[in-house]
Amino acid sequence: MRAMAHFLPLSRVARLVGESRSAIQRMIHDGELATFDGMVDMNELLRVFPDVQWEDDGEFKRVEEIKAKAFSRRVMERTLPDKEVLAERLYEMSKEFAAAKTLLLHYDEVLRFLDDKLDDVAEAGAGKQSVQQSIVVLKQWLRQELEATPKETERAQALLAQENVMRIMSAQVTILPAGHEFFVDGNDTLLEAALRAGIPLNYGCSNGNCGECKARLVSGQIKKVHPHDFVLKETEKADGAFLLCSYSAVSDVVVEAGVSGADDIPPQDIPTRVKAVEVINERIVALHLTAPRSQRLHFLAGQRVTLISEGTGGNLSGEYYVASCPCEDRHIELHIRRDNRPFARHVFEDMAKEDVVRIEGPHGRFVMKLDSRRPVIFVAWEDGFAPIKSLVQHAMSLEIAESMTLYWAADTAGVGHYQENLCRAWADALDEFTYQRLDAASSMAANVEAILAHHADLTRADIYAAGPHAFLQALQTGALERGLSPLGWHGEAIE
Ligand code: FES
Repeated sequence: MRAMAHFLPLSRVARLVGESRSAIQRMIHDGELATFDGMVDMNELLRVFPDVQWEDDGEFKRVEEIKAKAFSRRVMERTLPDKEVLAERLYEMSKEFAAAKTLLLHYDEVLRFLDDKLDDVAEAGAGKQSVQQSIVVLKQWLRQELEATPKETERAQALLAQENVMRIMSAQVTILPAGHEFFVDGNDTLLEAALRAGIPLNYGCSNGNCGECKARLVSGQIKKVHPHDFVLKETEKADGAFLLCSYSAVSDVVVEAGVSGADDIPPQDIPTRVKAVEVINERIVALHLTAPRSQRLHFLAGQRVTLISEGTGGNLSGEYYVASCPCEDRHIELHIRRDNRPFARHVFEDMAKEDVVRIEGPHGRFVMKLDSRRPVIFVAWEDGFAPIKSLVQHAMSLEIAESMTLYWAADTAGVGHYQENLCRAWADALDEFTYQRLDAASSMAANVEAILAHHADLTRADIYAAGPHAFLQALQTGALERGLSPLGWHGEAIE
């Protein structure tokens, strides 16, 4: 006996089986997993993943652990949803259970009625042996089917139970018209959840004042979890308008909201505090800043900012790439190379924990294409690793790239491969991630050749490369010769 038809959206399927969305999409593309209107039938899921242990708490495991390891984020930070959201989700689910139970009681009555009717028919047909025999066989079959607990049903029960836990812990959000999907976990607002998932939705203050995060609810149920001062007109509210930074999702929701491109982000001026000056080696420092609770930095992975700090001789400033991911909430990481610039000297010599560093920006268009589902190749030269690190983390949160390869050319006489443990952790944690170390002490041409030797055909790739102009030029020329589309090239010259 097959389990009842029950359809699941792709993002939930990915979480249930502990795979990335891109891996599931690849299976669908290759014809290994069938879908109906973009949904997967539970029976199909049981067929294609016969070995998955649903009761193994799969939702929380693989993908989240991988991401936590890769991002150095703690899985334990995950908290329960807001208690009112939790209560509403439980209430909605108990309504579903009540409806299912009522239906089962109804089926039970129908079966009893059928049983009685069969007895009546048998009685009426007394003497006709063939009729009586058929009825005995039919009743036996019915009893057997009702008493049997086939193995598939046990697996289906475990899968349904796991999905129910998932629906209590998180809600799925679909953003229109872009079609991005993500989950709201814990007590995140819709805005926080989107940023964690690498979806750069429009926003400004992130605390209910500016109205920049205004969106429209198309379907599903949301709940206000933070008050907001921004006033929405009654006509807007009647049309479903709400603020993404004030609401969380109770059920799976579809929302109409704008996604920011590099040109849509307003200039900001944010006073941050130094959390740590992490000396990685004598030539490079990772500067960790914390934005105020009420004013997180709105930027896209791959962008730069101007840092301004008060030194002994007055204000000092420098422009640097943000090395952290926009999904990291208030934490901002920058890599400062030791050189003669006054700001860099100040960081190496005097900067201390709790110092104020103002951030102006963001600047630049070296950002991720959000819709690319192709293999992505990242290339960093020396401290060009900073924007590449941010982009890699962004690509990981998005979970859409078919595969990722990172090449990093560095020289011990320069900054060296100063965060190589992280690159190795990414490669260890993710099946579809490869890391290749290159030597910047050898010629640029040799490095370009070493990269291209792995990619005879680049027609289906995107390349993001940050490094000296001459290196980028040689790499771009070679990549185009191997079929890279001009639209697939994203280079950022850093001298
Ligand atoms: S971001 Fe300003 S109100 Fe939501």
